[in-house]
Amino acid sequence: MCGIVGYIGKQKDIRIGMEALKRLEYRGYDSAGMAVYNKERKEIDSIKAVGKVASLEEKLRSTNFEGSPFLFYTRWATHGQVTEENCHPHADCTGNIWVAHNGIIENYQQLKQELLGEGHVFLSETDTEVLPHLIEKFFTGNLEDATRKALSLVHGAYALAIIARDDSEKLVLAKYSAPLLIGLGDGEYLAASDPSAVITHTNKVIYLEDGELAILTPKTFSIQNYQQELVERDAEEIEWSLEDAKKGGYPHFMQKEIMEQPESIINSLRGRLLLDTGDVRLGGLEQVQEKLKNIEQVEILACGTAYLSGSVGTYMLQEYTGMPTKADIASEFRYKKPIIDKKTAYLFISQSGETADTLAALKEVKKKGGLALGIVNTVGSSIARETEAGVYNHAGPEIGVASTKAFTSQLTVLALLTLFLGRQRGMSFTMGQRIAKEIANLPVLVKETLETTNAIMEKIAIKYQGARDFLFIARKYNYPVALEGALKLKEISYIHAEGYGAGEMKHGPLAMIDENFPTIALCPSDSVYEKMISNIQEIKARKGPVIAIATQGNEDIKTIADDVIYIPKTLEMLTPILSVIPLQLFAYYMGILKGYDVDKPRNLAKSVTVE
Ligand code: M6R
Repeated sequence: MCGIVGYIGKQKDIRIGMEALKRLEYRGYDSAGMAVYNKERKEIDSIKAVGKVASLEEKLRSTNFEGSPFLFYTRWATHGQVTEENCHPHADCTGNIWVAHNGIIENYQQLKQELLGEGHVFLSETDTEVLPHLIEKFFTGNLEDATRKALSLVHGAYALAIIARDDSEKLVLAKYSAPLLIGLGDGEYLAASDPSAVITHTNKVIYLEDGELAILTPKTFSIQNYQQELVERDAEEIEWSLEDAKKGGYPHFMQKEIMEQPESIINSLRGRLLLDTGDVRLGGLEQVQEKLKNIEQVEILACGTAYLSGSVGTYMLQEYTGMPTKADIASEFRYKKPIIDKKTAYLFISQSGETADTLAALKEVKKKGGLALGIVNTVGSSIARETEAGVYNHAGPEIGVASTKAFTSQLTVLALLTLFLGRQRGMSFTMGQRIAKEIANLPVLVKETLETTNAIMEKIAIKYQGARDFLFIARKYNYPVALEGALKLKEISYIHAEGYGAGEMKHGPLAMIDENFPTIALCPSDSVYEKMISNIQEIKARKGPVIAIATQGNEDIKTIADDVIYIPKTLEMLTPILSVIPLQLFAYYMGILKGYDVDKPRNLAKSVTVE
């Protein structure tokens, strides 16, 4: 898990790499490193630093490093401690070959033993270090040939950027199950893990596919498969601007991303709702439209917040399409010896489109001939490319590690998909129109929710900042939102929090409740409201403080709950898109009160590209 930048071209200024790396910091930020070829001295200089990218920048100020090609790297440790020795780029025995790697080399122990036996000297505990030594073993002056030979012995996932002192006019890239692209600049090429890194130089990118090797020189580039056949691929244009990826005046990306949800939902809806006919147009599913008519069930596979949006989706799809629908954690799916059914649509949800567990589940489904569909935010990402068809979120780049706008965008797309599949299965015109109208009104309601709950949630966070634990409870559509509220609080404020189906309280968790254990109860005025009230009463009877998220106009709830936060009324299936907003704000303000870096919570990374 990490971010890679590679450069080759007319410039010698390594600040290009530094700036690009800063935009990849969300992928990992425990240490950072770089290596650059100095033409005058015919040497590769390298420096590494423990800590965020800024620590590397600080160290670089005291050097006069310059040149081309160069590599930059930001790490999220998988093998070995967070130390300079374990940070990339890693070198071979003589300092000739330098490698930056995102992914995991699964057979590194066996390769390392062999290389040690042949006299190679290792300096780190990482899996990656076998790569420069393997390339060294095969190197006779041509970097791509040696790389190709080395990779034929490697099992695992990798995005690689490689340079060599003794073949210095090249930057070699290789990709398998980890993201890598080439930005096509003017007299220069920038390679990176994602387009945000290259956008100040170019909006033209080529995404490498699994099993491809790219050879970049200052003036030309070529892409080959491992059989050395040339691959021709047109460049794609990045549609979003650098400004989109910056904080836009907010102190943190997380707050920016929470506050921009009205716009991100508008973007997810753009051109898709047909209000007059109560239909939905999803261009990305057109090619599988006929197949979709024949499916009889849906299985959603995802991780973390994306899994929780999928869990809300199971309630939507099952209620309105009549198809049995379930959601599973992608990291568990494979171990159940999945039985892939031809009448099931497998739906993969991912913001990054690079989550290794989700990708692995997707490959399993594809291998067994299942229909794999995606709801993905990052255009051109691995999951987007591996799925047969899908719907892009168009929520814009999400930089904060905590998923916020991606969650509400995923729910919006799931609502669109529900309407789309529902109408295919006999949902009435009137019902279709009603749902379409409510979906179209979401941006207005989300804006209103943000305006009315923002300041209150800050106060609630201040009031409850001393609590050691929190419980989040809900039923039906809001049950996964309770889990999401707990996940968000844990992730951002490191406070212990649990989400429960409210009906489960009496089966165990109620025992924890006392006057020091607050509960956030999601109780909009919906079909399970009365049952929620009974569960809240059970908590109050044990002196537990209750913060209720209720529908505007419900005055009764004030007589039961200690604090009430109101959200606007909407269709029951759409309430999660509103009820999650105060929970996102609560986690944000709690993290700020505790003095934590809410954009980069400890131990986590934005894009989880290891299983
Ligand atoms: O990029 P993905 O949507 O596939 O990521 C899945 C999870 O890693 C992600 O949602 C994670 O749970 C978030 N950091 C939670 O806020």
